[in-house]
Amino acid sequence: MAARGSFDTRLGFILAAAGSAVGLGNIWKFPFEVGDGGGAAFVIVYLAFCFILCYPVLVTEIAIGRKTQRNPVGAFKALGYKKWSIIGYMGLASGVLILSFYNVVAAWSFGYVIEMIQGNFGIGEDFGVFITDALKVGLYGVIFMSTTAFIVSNGVSGGIERAAKILMPSLIFIILCLLAYALTLPNAMEGVKFYLVPDFSKLTGDVIYSALGQAFFSLSLGMGALITYGSYVSRDQNIVSAGAMITLADVGIAFIAGFMLFPIVFSQGIEPSGGAGLIFITLPGVFETLGPNMGVAVGVLFFLLLTFAALTSTVSLLEVPTAYVVDEHGVERKKAVWGLAFVIFLIGIPSLLSNGTTEWLTSFIQLPGHDSPISFMDFVEDLAADSFLPVGGFLIAVFAAWVWRKENLNEELAYGDPSIRGGILLKYINFAISYICPLMLGLIAVVTIL
Ligand code: PHE
Repeated sequence: MAARGSFDTRLGFILAAAGSAVGLGNIWKFPFEVGDGGGAAFVIVYLAFCFILCYPVLVTEIAIGRKTQRNPVGAFKALGYKKWSIIGYMGLASGVLILSFYNVVAAWSFGYVIEMIQGNFGIGEDFGVFITDALKVGLYGVIFMSTTAFIVSNGVSGGIERAAKILMPSLIFIILCLLAYALTLPNAMEGVKFYLVPDFSKLTGDVIYSALGQAFFSLSLGMGALITYGSYVSRDQNIVSAGAMITLADVGIAFIAGFMLFPIVFSQGIEPSGGAGLIFITLPGVFETLGPNMGVAVGVLFFLLLTFAALTSTVSLLEVPTAYVVDEHGVERKKAVWGLAFVIFLIGIPSLLSNGTTEWLTSFIQLPGHDSPISFMDFVEDLAADSFLPVGGFLIAVFAAWVWRKENLNEELAYGDPSIRGGILLKYINFAISYICPLMLGLIAVVTIL
């Protein structure tokens, strides 16, 4: 078997993992979930989930990957627990499903960069038409998926790490520029208030459930993306602190995205609407009011930000099945990458067509708790992101704490820095994956099913 890739530097690993985490989930989804979920009330629940529940699972995933140097399926086998590799298979399925619809939204975002360059601010009003144009969106989707495949085909340090080292600093630079600009706009404080003033009456079971799904989705947890990236990390690194930085980066950028967006929206006296609407429908019109030059500049920057964020995430989504096919079936990396990208693109076609192009895919299924039937794409998103990921996280915690056992986990965690043994952080991680994660995730699962 060819030598496995690895990250060259600690920073490269942290940027790549943070790149996986920071994506459409942070910039597109998070701010609106905050809006729908009662502002700061949602933020508090989300932060609690990220640090109390997700951080320990994140570190555990990285440890399983580094210990075994394998993909999520091979990892459980390598530890000697073949049956538990079901977690890995579930992770593969989640990864493939998530990438299949994620690529569609990434294609919109890339398409919007092109529209903004041309100064076509009217695209916001035409969003409904734009997303039904399957050929156009499909073409952007092919370009986006190919770019992802190109990066992944160049390997771990030459592709994934190198791309993260360019894209992540660019992303941080762009978001800070937009933030500084947004806060100087008239009415900016109205937006900040909307974002931050808590309304606890909106905190229903549904909101808590979506905060949980959002925390897992946003941190790329529960499907083995971090097992895979962890398998490329060397033993001299402290993954307990690396995991903390990844979590902080993800939460921090989601938080800043809200600070940037709501002032822009409120500066024009527009009421924020939920979901995809605000970014793709309202924002172009807002950019237009900034005047032709500033409008194009801010518009291009904004959608470029979204596109870069999506790209470092799709790279990690494609890397998971790639690592599986390469490790377990000995397929050559380039072939694996392009073959998988092609198949996943095809799997994404029903999602592509489910935004108005094809009627039965658009009103695909009526689920309890929804007023009207949801589209195929929303269905896949709900299934993979809100259900598979937390279940995956639950199983990973139970496996590490009660099957593989804490001694083994701790040994792996202490490699980079033996001084973390006996420290409070390690104690907390142990406690969390043994009790808090299984109990809370189990409870939430039961409550949602009932
Ligand atoms: N974390 C990514 C986002 O927030 C999505 C993602 C989920 C990426 C799972 C990889 C694995 O957009």
